[in-house]
Amino acid sequence: MDMMKAVQFHEYGGPEVLRFEDAPRPSPANDEILVRVHAAGVNPVDGGIRAGRVRSLSQRLPQVAGLDFAGTVEQVGKKVRGFRVGDAVYGRPQFGHGGAYAQYVVVKPTDVAKKPRSLDFAHAAALPTAALAAWQALFESDGTPTMRLSRGQTVLIHGASGGVGTFAVQLAKWIGATVIGTGRTENLQFLKELGVDVVVDYTQQRFEDFAHQVDGVLDVVGGETQARSWDVLKKGGVLVSTVGIQSEEPAKARGVRAIAIMAGQDPRVLAEIAKLVDKGVIKVPLSEELPLERAREAQEHIQSGHTRGKIVLDVH
Ligand SMILES: NC(=O)c1ccc[n+]([C@@H]2O[C@H](COP(=O)([O-])OP(=O)(O)OC[C@H]3O[C@@H](n4cnc5c(N)ncnc54)[C@H](OP(=O)(O)O)[C@@H]3O)[C@@H](O)[C@H]2O)c1
Repeated sequence: MDMMKAVQFHEYGGPEVLRFEDAPRPSPANDEILVRVHAAGVNPVDGGIRAGRVRSLSQRLPQVAGLDFAGTVEQVGKKVRGFRVGDAVYGRPQFGHGGAYAQYVVVKPTDVAKKPRSLDFAHAAALPTAALAAWQALFESDGTPTMRLSRGQTVLIHGASGGVGTFAVQLAKWIGATVIGTGRTENLQFLKELGVDVVVDYTQQRFEDFAHQVDGVLDVVGGETQARSWDVLKKGGVLVSTVGIQSEEPAKARGVRAIAIMAGQDPRVLAEIAKLVDKGVIKVPLSEELPLERAREAQEHIQSGHTRGKIVLDVH
């Protein structure tokens, strides 16, 4: 059996269950692609999967950790069209269909798109989940409208300096919206540089004092932040959350909409994001680049809930 280096877990638990070890190299079916991974992106959900909080029926132990990656196509199944050996791609496998903290990953063609040409593999690996979530929150998800943010509107983006937030801010500015963004004191300068129009230090200020009658709120925090956000929306406005809607009642009472999204595979959106990156519209801020064998540390850091931009793992 061909082997590869991978970060796996044999039981669900904290970051300490992650092991850098040899694992069987996956092989692609006729409708799949084998990718040689050069970098893997780190997301909060990686920890949820490792802890057993986010599970799919097809999941087996041991499991390779992680989802997002960028790499080179190594082998193409007979039925696959549109990809060739050597293509540089980025994306993520579906839940329960293999992890990306490894030298190789098998994916369906609908899980990937061509990597942005202007980015190295590390920066490209930072994009998939966070950028898909940002796009699907602000615009549409699989053809179904979500916030439908458009030119001239105003959006309040919570957690604007994090993975989803940084891409959401840049997408909202690209579409021509005014952005109110929240972050900690040490992130305010970063938020201004990212393009946030009105920067709110949530540790010192109340976002309600800056956001009034907004068209949309992107909530990546939940709890009290979500509960206080309903009152800043105008009638007919939309709150989209990446962490679930605690109660539909406040939305109903105020004539606003509440939408919880679950970022889904969308190669069309990945291709669109790659174009925007290559045009210089979207930048990819990395806070940390670690070697694959330090995946445990990377997951400990993302668990803090205060990552600026993205963390990635280099895979050799
Ligand atoms: N449903 C989905 O499909 C989906 C997809 C992606 C992510 N998510 C979820 O969405 C959440 C965010 O993901 P992410 O990748 O952006 O995480 P992340 O990179 O860890 O960023 C989280 C951000 O939240 C900010 N934050 C923490 N407490 C805050 C508060 N009280 N008010 C305002 N901002 C606050 C932090 O900024 P400061 O350092 O400035 O506090 C940090 O930048 C996670 O729970 C993740 O699991 C869901």
